[in-house]
Amino acid sequence: MRRRAVLVLLGAALSGCGGERRWDTGVDGKPQLVLGFAQVGAESGWRTANTKSIQEAADASGIELRFSDAQQKQENQIKAIRSFIAQKVDVIAFSPVVESGWDTVLQEARAAGIPVILTDRAIDSKDTTLYRSFLGSDFVLEGRRAGEWLVKEYQGRTSPVNIVELQGTTGSAPANDRKAGFAETIKASPNLRIVASQTGNFTRAKGKEVMEALLKAHPKIDVLYAHNDDMALGAIEAIQAAGKRPGVDIKIVSVDAVKDGMTALSQNRINFIVECSPLLGPQLMDLAKKVVAGEPVDARILTVETTFTPEQAKAALPQRKY
Ligand code: AHR
Repeated sequence: MRRRAVLVLLGAALSGCGGERRWDTGVDGKPQLVLGFAQVGAESGWRTANTKSIQEAADASGIELRFSDAQQKQENQIKAIRSFIAQKVDVIAFSPVVESGWDTVLQEARAAGIPVILTDRAIDSKDTTLYRSFLGSDFVLEGRRAGEWLVKEYQGRTSPVNIVELQGTTGSAPANDRKAGFAETIKASPNLRIVASQTGNFTRAKGKEVMEALLKAHPKIDVLYAHNDDMALGAIEAIQAAGKRPGVDIKIVSVDAVKDGMTALSQNRINFIVECSPLLGPQLMDLAKKVVAGEPVDARILTVETTFTPEQAKAALPQRKY
């Protein structure tokens, strides 16, 4: 009660400076914070788990969530953000489909006095005052971890190791950063060669389609580095259809550690997975409350993550939440 009262006062104070800021009234007549969330889409198991985490955490925190699915299109996300501004929500959070092209719409949010939080993916704007905080993973580190596993796996081998890379959505932070972190880490081992690198748009269907083409174009592929589990799982179907054994004839390293990926890892069809946690909901709700209350928040909040071998996947699977 006391906290709510403080929040009402702060809401009123913000209303004074921003002109239009106010908190809506919830079903019980108490003020309820309204969060507009512009999601990327539903392209992967990771994304489905992320959406669920956000929806459940909003419910648990008494936050009214206005949710929009951009179907992996930046123009849809921009429209959703403009609509949240028009609705005068208290705070906007979004996971940007791509890194660039956000300045104009975020300036509009700022002019309306609505704070913005980036979740999961970052933007490349030079103006860091356009958003209050970033909450998510260190994608460069994820790429490095995938590369470190590969370097170790082929330690002592001097003959060429042909790697194909399935990138995430072109222009997205995870695709850019996972590519960069991986490339930087394998650079010192000249026999580890990326012979092809193409986007699979983070989806299983595209992962399969691109891998089919890569298998035809490159008769000797030793390793697949997939920027997420869904693309790796699609690629596994293509590898099997080509009469090869995933995890044996072609080693596979991917990112996410969703249940389907972990299952394939536990069955040795994937060899190593770098975790990327989608369970950002509870932290996001706390952050939203703090930002609206005008409390100081960290500019960058990183998720703590790990990596999995097949044995570790077997042990972790029974408790895996996503
Ligand atoms: O931004 C996080 C990435 O987006 C996940 O690794 C991928 O599965 C998702 O689609």
